[in-house]
Amino acid sequence: MTPDLECSALTRRFDQSLAVDDVSFSVPPGSFFSILGPSGCGKTTIMRMIAGFLAPTSGDIRIKGTSVLDVPPNKRPVNMVFQHLALFPMMNIADNIGYGLRRKGLPKS
Ligand SMILES: Nc1ncnc2c1ncn2[C@@H]1O[C@H](COP(=O)(O)OP(=O)(O)O)[C@@H](O)[C@H]1O
Ligand SMILES: [Mg+2]
Repeated sequence: MTPDLECSALTRRFDQSLAVDDVSFSVPPGSFFSILGPSGCGKTTIMRMIAGFLAPTSGDIRIKGTSVLDVPPNKRPVNMVFQHLALFPMMNIADNIGYGLRRKGLPKS
């Protein structure tokens, strides 16, 4: 089955520093996927590239088999919940995470 999300050889440089170095993974449909690592290892940079807020230096991001590199953030089927600042303070964690899904009218399941 085509993965929901595939990152292949994803790389991002900031000047001299290599924030994300040749990262490849695929997320099968319906799965829960976590990226864990110490502070500064590149997790947020990967998330921002998947959401479209940052372009990869090289590599590809495919959603359901199609590259989204040319798709702007508001046209990608991606919801990103930021670590701080952009959260709804009156909502709990589940409500913040579910906000984009509710707006899309997705079923509760
Ligand atoms: N806009 C930026 N300009 C320069 N360096 C950055 C920028 N964003 C992130 N980095 C660097 O990229 C590396 C990975 O950062 P980040 O993705 O925020 O890591 P994590 O989310 O895993 O803590 C760090 O060394 C960080 O300093
Ligand atoms: Mg981070």
